[in-house]
Amino acid sequence: MNLLKTLTIAAAGLLLTFTAAGASEIQKTAKDISYSFEGPFGHFDKAQLQRGYKVYKEVCSSCHAMHLMSFRNLSQPGGPGFTDEQVKALAATFTVQDGPNGEGEMFERPALPSDRFPSPFPNEQAARTANGGAYPPDLSLITKSRPGWYGTINQLINGIGGPQYVYSVLTGYVPDEQLTPEVLAEKPEGKYYNPYFSNGHWIGMPPPLSDDQVTFDDGTPATVDQMARDVSAFLAWTAEPKMEERKRLGFMVLIYLGILALLLYLVKKKIWADVH
Ligand code: HEC
Repeated sequence: MNLLKTLTIAAAGLLLTFTAAGASEIQKTAKDISYSFEGPFGHFDKAQLQRGYKVYKEVCSSCHAMHLMSFRNLSQPGGPGFTDEQVKALAATFTVQDGPNGEGEMFERPALPSDRFPSPFPNEQAARTANGGAYPPDLSLITKSRPGWYGTINQLINGIGGPQYVYSVLTGYVPDEQLTPEVLAEKPEGKYYNPYFSNGHWIGMPPPLSDDQVTFDDGTPATVDQMARDVSAFLAWTAEPKMEERKRLGFMVLIYLGILALLLYLVKKKIWADVH
């Protein structure tokens, strides 16, 4: 009886896996671009994270929040490497709600380094109303929560492709003129065709990037491709701000285990030396 139960559950599980895989088939596999932080020795590129921050600030933050990130994180080691002074100035360009004050009223003030990246909208309903019914998700963990490709082995080797997913969505819009009349006929009001989007081909986000939308302080040309790379790298960092520390620690652990293995081997040889 128990065996039957287990088998039923296993079968249901398998079925679910197949359905999920089936659902993802309509979504195009993300473009496999490479980043400096990939692989066991990869590092975030500080200049790229600073550019990515600029794209987030000047473009994305007008719709998306990052509630798991505080401004002060921007000056922590392993990140974009802004100074504390710079972070103060960057934070002050955002407005947050605070209160209640002595009269019981909520009020707005410039953000402090200890504040989280706020949403530009007071609540979800307001955000949906402003975006034709679609909700701009919080971007703090987006590169961890959306895979760019599927397959357990594939993901083990190549990662889940979260940053590539974001890059692909940003660069993957197909303008209406290039759609076939049949596809165009299905276009819902206020949606845009994007085959990389995880939830069907029609996305409620208007194409957010266009060439030269921001001016990078380091003189890098602000093409759509460049901005998409930089902001997706920045969002990879926000999703795992301690990645560099983790890799460093992992490396130390491996060295330690290597030395330990060598010592154990030598000790074993010595102890068993007289046994014939
Ligand atoms: C005009 C408002 C607006 C701007 C600006 C904007 N977005 Fe969006 N974004 C949205 C909305 C609305 C959605 C939800 C779309 C949907 O569900 O159909 C969305 C969805 C997304 C998604 C897909 C999330 C998912 O569910 O898979 C990503 C990734 C994303 N945005 C990243 C960005 C980035 C990065 C920027 C800055 C370069 C940006 N967005 C700028 C409104 C915006």
